[in-house]
Order: sequence, then C-alpha cells, then structure tokens
Amino acid sequence: MCGIVGYIGTRAASGILIEGLKTLEYRGYDSAGVATISEGTLQRTRAKGKLINLQTKLEGLEDPARLGIGHTRWATHGKPEEHNAHPHTDESERLAVVQNGIIENYRELREELKEKGYTFCSDTDTEVIPHLIDEYLKNPAPEAVLSAQSALLEAVRQAVNRLRGAFALAIVSVDFPDELIVVRQQAPLAIGFGQGEFFCASDTPAIMPYTQAVLTLENGEIARLTPMGVEVYEFSGHRLKKYPRTLNWNPIMVEKQGFKHFMLKEIYEQPGVVRTCLETYLDTDWDVSSGESPIKLDLPDALLDGLQHVQILACGTSWHASLVGKYLLEQVAGIPTFVQYASEFRYAPAPLMPNTMTIGVTQSGETADTLAALEMEQNRRTEQGGDYAPRMLGITNRVDSSLGRLIPDVVGTMAGIEIGVAATKTFVAQLMAFYFLSLELAYRRKAISLERMAEIIEGLRQLPAQLEQVLEAQERYVEELSHDFSETQDFIFIGRGINYPIALEGALKLKEISYIHAEGYPAGEMKHGPIALLDEKVPVVAIATRGTVYEKVLSNAQEAKARDAQLIGVVPMNDAEAEETFDSLLPVPDVDELLSPMLTVIPVQLLSYHIAARRGLDVDQPRNLAKSVTVE
Ligand code: F6R
Repeated sequence: MCGIVGYIGTRAASGILIEGLKTLEYRGYDSAGVATISEGTLQRTRAKGKLINLQTKLEGLEDPARLGIGHTRWATHGKPEEHNAHPHTDESERLAVVQNGIIENYRELREELKEKGYTFCSDTDTEVIPHLIDEYLKNPAPEAVLSAQSALLEAVRQAVNRLRGAFALAIVSVDFPDELIVVRQQAPLAIGFGQGEFFCASDTPAIMPYTQAVLTLENGEIARLTPMGVEVYEFSGHRLKKYPRTLNWNPIMVEKQGFKHFMLKEIYEQPGVVRTCLETYLDTDWDVSSGESPIKLDLPDALLDGLQHVQILACGTSWHASLVGKYLLEQVAGIPTFVQYASEFRYAPAPLMPNTMTIGVTQSGETADTLAALEMEQNRRTEQGGDYAPRMLGITNRVDSSLGRLIPDVVGTMAGIEIGVAATKTFVAQLMAFYFLSLELAYRRKAISLERMAEIIEGLRQLPAQLEQVLEAQERYVEELSHDFSETQDFIFIGRGINYPIALEGALKLKEISYIHAEGYPAGEMKHGPIALLDEKVPVVAIATRGTVYEKVLSNAQEAKARDAQLIGVVPMNDAEAEETFDSLLPVPDVDELLSPMLTVIPVQLLSYHIAARRGLDVDQPRNLAKSVTVE
C-alpha cells in the first residue's frame, strides 16, 4: 500500500514522477505529492484525493529539477488530508521523505524528537523519519561507517537502524543535490538503471517505460543513486555487489483498449488468460496411452512426493481461490487440505503436521500478512526439520515479487498485469494453477485413473471457448439486470461444494466495488440463521450447477423464494427446473462439476461490475482499498 517513485538523471523529474504515480495509483489514492530539488531549493506539492488533484495543482508550473520523489497514499496513520500527504520534510524543508509501510515505534521516536525540540505538523508515522535523519546529519552517532561515501547516506543508515516495522523509503535533500537514497525493509522497492539516469519505484511497471534493467532491493538494504551509478549497502554499512536483471514487459498491457474500466477489460481477458495457462502448463501432445503426466509444472519431486497434508495461506480473493484449491486437492488428489487466512495463521498457527506442503497464494506476491505467515512457517519448520521440514510453494501473478524471492518454487499464474483493484482474471488464473497442481498430484499418487484425468483435461481445453460464450451471451443481459439493483442495500450469495467459494467471491466483488452489503453463505447454512435476513428487499444469487449438490441448492433457493426474496440463478444452460425456480437466469455451459467455478464466477463478476458502474462508482479504484496490501 502506498506507492513511491524517485528519479535522478538528466530529464525533468516532475513529469517522470507523475507518470510513475499514475501507474502506482492502484496502491492507494487518498492523497499524492511530489518533492523535487533544483538550484538549492526543495519544491514540494501535495494534494488530498486522487492523483488528478495533484496534476491540476502542478499544471503550468515550470520545474527544471532533475531529481525528485513522489508518493500516492493509502492512509494508515492520520486522515487523508493534505497535511498528512507525503513527501514529509524536516523543519528546514531541506530534506524530503516518502514512505510505504508502517513505522511501529513512531510514538517513542516522536517523543524523543519532541524532547530535542522538533515540532511535528502531521499525524503520520512517517514524519519522524525526516526529523531523525536531520538529527543524525547534525549529530552523527559515533559509529558512523559510511560518512566517507556520503553524510546523507550515513544519516539515513543510522536513522533506519532506529526504525521498527515494514517500510520502503526514498529520500532527497537540497544539501545533497546529486543523491537519491532509497531503503527497503519488508516493503517492495525496485531500482531502474537507465543511461545516466536512475529510477526507483514500489513496483516495476512504473519503471518499465524507461528501462527494463531492474534491481530489486532485499530487506535490510539501502541504495545510493547518483548520476554516476548505484551503490547498495546493508543496514550495517557493509557494501554489496548487485547487478540489475532484464524484465520482459509490454506497455500495451496497461491500456484500457476501449473498455470503460480496467475491470471490464480484465473480465474479458479471462479466456485468453486460460489459453495462456493451458499452453504453459499442459502438454499439448499428451495422450492418455503414454502413461506420462500431462502437467508441466516443473516442480521438484521432493516438494510433491509423499505428502500427507497441504495447508494454504492467503487473503481475500486469493483465499477464495484457495478454497476451490482445497476442494480439488481433496477430491482429485485425495490429500487432506487446510486453508487459513494468513492474517490469522501468523498469530495462531496450527500445530505442525508432518509431510505437509505449505502453499502461499497471492496475486501481487506482496501481501504483508501472507508473506509474514509464510516466512514464519518456513522458519518454524526449518527449526523442527525431519518430516516437518518446509515444503513451500508459491502461486502468484508476480514471480518477480517478494513472494518469488521468499519461496524457491513458484507457479506463475500468467494473467498479465491486473490494474482494477478488484481481482478478476488473476482469480481464474489461480484456479487454473490449482487444477494443474491437483492433477499432477493425482497422477503421482494414482488418485484417479488416467481416463478420468483425460476427461478433466478435455474439459479444461474447452474452457476458453466456453468463457467467450458466457461473456458474449451475458454482457448485455447482466447490464440490463443491474438496473434493478442499483438501489439495493443487501445481497445474499449462496453456493455449495466447489461453488461455495464462488458465492463468497461474488459477495466480496459486490461489496468492494459497489459498496452494497453482501454475504456469501454455504447454501445449506442459510436455515441456521441467515435466512432471517430475507424479505422482498434482499435478492439472493444462487450458484446452482449440475453435480452432487444441484438439487440441494435448488431446494435452498426455493426456501429463499418462500421468504419473498428475488432469486437470481447462475445455472446450467437450457435447464427447465432452473427456469421454473429463478426470477432471473445467468446460464453457463453445463460442464463437469469440478470445472464449473471457472464459468460460474463470470456472471457474478459481471453483475458486480454493472451494478457498481450503474451506481456511477469508481470501479477500478474503490474507496478505502488498495491493490497491494503491504501493511499488516
Ligand atoms: C479482492 C482483492 C483482495 C485481494 C487480497 C489479497 O478483489 O483483490 O481481496 O485478493 O488483498 O491480495 P493478494 O492476492 O495480492 O495477496
């Protein structure tokens, strides 16, 4: 959460900073600000609200500076007001800092600095940092180790050694006009290498338009960027030798391409995403008679063989994908699987089970709780060793993320960059990863016959065309249907078995982008309490596809109808029983129950999208949310 950018080089910094912030706005949009250094002055401009407000303020301002930093904020400490917007400065306004993350010991540092005479003008945790750096510039601690390189670098080093928490920083000072100092501690920070110019950002897409040579800092590292190059140090002052790597990226991926919102574009990209996953992870020439595995995940035997349990750690939509994963791992591969919220697990981990694979599922690869829970699990299993030794797997859309560095074995979900804050295409890509993993494990454990495996694989191959069919058939209808619900205040989503997570996902999508209260329930649980909520004002969306629980879900829907609820059914195409039961139908092809979530999720995504768009809301950047949740 929060996006930071920085530039040092030969071009005008301010335009580059604004372009970078546009790319990072998904990380927070409560306020934005930039600080640039030129001709002995620091120029700082900040604005409450979205980046456009900052751009309006900057319009017409000539700024020749070749050095600067910028920030887009997701408020943690202090309301989203201009005085809390970054960059924050020292008292003399000669030094400016932007931060992503949280300084946990800011209260005690603030008291210490106040006693020394420093005054504070924001409610943020960040403001202690420029004052602390200023203090170390004025009164360097005796153990200075980097003063010969730069007094600013050394003062930052001393300051960050006092900070507790998760943070990434970028710092500039009028008194050091050829230096941009950046820091990483449990929050992402990448450095871009150009020709005589260097960039920094919380995420690589902000750098990619300028250079594809990128160095990602590790935790506990500080870098000094000058027009001459980049030096990287540990917090101890020890110098490191580090080199950039080349990233592949296609700028077209971050255009809306004629769609009104990124979310709608990303919903429409799903057939293509599934095709890419199939091409990447499925042996296209596979023949059941070969006796070989059709899956090309390229994971080590030591990770996959002899497993007794799987535990999955995730948050939000990734947690919902993991629930589908649990169903597949248990029903296809026959492995008992536990899914935990990472934020709960990290403070109350289950007792260790032997021969367990731990899977971290995170679209961004940067979710603080997921990373911390995985790291904790890795450490406690390493300590225990033997049958309890860590077997870790990551499933992420960003293999170049912190997750990719924490865990050696990662399955990339190949969905391309997702800009809409509400996850859509990355969710179906996570499901694809679980199909491949459960099939590979089923093959190794001989949990299902090769003939059954061939059936599932044939079903997977049909999915891209079926997804296109659903999108084409439903787009107009769902848009019209959404008119009926633009004033609705509560929604219930119900599903069972492998489609229960789709009910949860439908409710989450609706809540986050339309601000309508929505709940997802296992359909059979309704009568144990939630049914009391139902009346004619509360529509119920039932996910009812043919399979083990089809009749049961239809009965649960009837129970809701008897309480006057308006019923919307995500149902198999051409199904007479469904036509009789539901007021509105969102039909999907009648596929193998195991594959049905791949199709049933589309109508609930479209419904949420159109209701939110109809209400005139900011679908891609809903209030209070950020795409990458890098704080606890
Ligand atoms: C919902 C959504 C969030 C994320 C959650 C975890 O649409 O996007 O619930 O799923 O913040 O994020 P990742 O998957 O990046 O760990």
